[in-house]
Amino acid sequence: MDIINIKDTSNKLYYIGGIVRDFLLHRPSIDVDITCEGNAIEYCAQFGDVLQINPDFGTIKVLVDGREVDFASTRTERYDKKGHLPQVDKIGVTLKEDVLRRDFTINALAMSVSTGEIVDYTGGQQDLKNGVLRVLHDNSFIDDPTRIIRGLKFAMRFGFELDEHTKNLQDKYLENINYDMSYARVKKELIETFGCSKEMTRGLQWAYEYFINEKIYKLVTPDDVTMPSCNIEKLIHDYPVENQWLVFVGTLKDLSRIPLTKHEQKILDDVPTAALSSDFEIYKAFENINTESILLYGILQNEKIARRYLDVLKHIKIKINGKDLKHIGVPPSPEYSECFDFVLAEKLKNPALSYEDEIALAKQFFKI
Ligand code: CTP
Repeated sequence: MDIINIKDTSNKLYYIGGIVRDFLLHRPSIDVDITCEGNAIEYCAQFGDVLQINPDFGTIKVLVDGREVDFASTRTERYDKKGHLPQVDKIGVTLKEDVLRRDFTINALAMSVSTGEIVDYTGGQQDLKNGVLRVLHDNSFIDDPTRIIRGLKFAMRFGFELDEHTKNLQDKYLENINYDMSYARVKKELIETFGCSKEMTRGLQWAYEYFINEKIYKLVTPDDVTMPSCNIEKLIHDYPVENQWLVFVGTLKDLSRIPLTKHEQKILDDVPTAALSSDFEIYKAFENINTESILLYGILQNEKIARRYLDVLKHIKIKINGKDLKHIGVPPSPEYSECFDFVLAEKLKNPALSYEDEIALAKQFFKI
């Protein structure tokens, strides 16, 4: 665990949530969340330079030993608008009340900063041992449907299963989804689920067979979809990309509810829809688009063609340029690009063509 050097004997401070779970699983953790039983803003300013205070949420960011640490006051929350960010209800509640507002028992563990003692009100340690994801109350998915994708995320990451009652609650919710939800939050969870999980094979199958194909698809589209037959995980492994999540999620028919950046939207818009057959056609369709778009073409249309481009065609480049054409006496004109395409088509048939061969082809094109 990423130990923060805080001298505190009050026993008011607790590592909470993911960091305790990851510590018990002997896994590295990204964030350090500390909760203060009481008012963090009043109590935690003493630990270093105060960088930021958010009185509405009772949180304070402090520079401790050169590290930014987020301290949160213990709080309860209410979901006035189901599916959206909760409102803070009360600040300064007991640790137990704070813990009970959370998603799964494995994320409801606390560890005293003063003594290292684990505080487990919900059986999270046992569930961690058994590899079980269990919600804390029956309204959990109704309050916050992003927890369904969070469940998928943790299942994929840790190889865990939903406990039976939790699965029933989820099924019940999915049969009658409230589509009014924060899709920005859904997106965040989708990125975390399909963007960085390393243990994907089993989880992916689960995701596609159960969640994505039948259910989660309905979070983003009312259409029925056919699960792609291509092994997406293998494709991603062979051709790593920055927006891995979009290669999975981009197979959905309609992502209009998910707020995408311009770049992400372009990746989806650029996926060719036409059937491509000749090497030249493939080359021209793929040469100026992102690898994510090519992988999506591979998943949705033809994997062999995507692989042929990425393995072979992509590395074939013509050597001549505008200067060479000028040099052989052709003034600049739009015909230059036609000539380059002519040479490229020949080069794709015979990649061993030399610079001199290309010049000869250019002369042939311009009838010089
Ligand atoms: N949490 C929750 N419901 C959510 C999101 C978060 O109850 N929809 C609670 C969980 O207790 C979680 C904590 O807030 O542990 C912190 O949330 P977050 O940082 O998103 O998740 P982590 O559990 O830290 O997971 P990760 O390792 O993916 O960051």
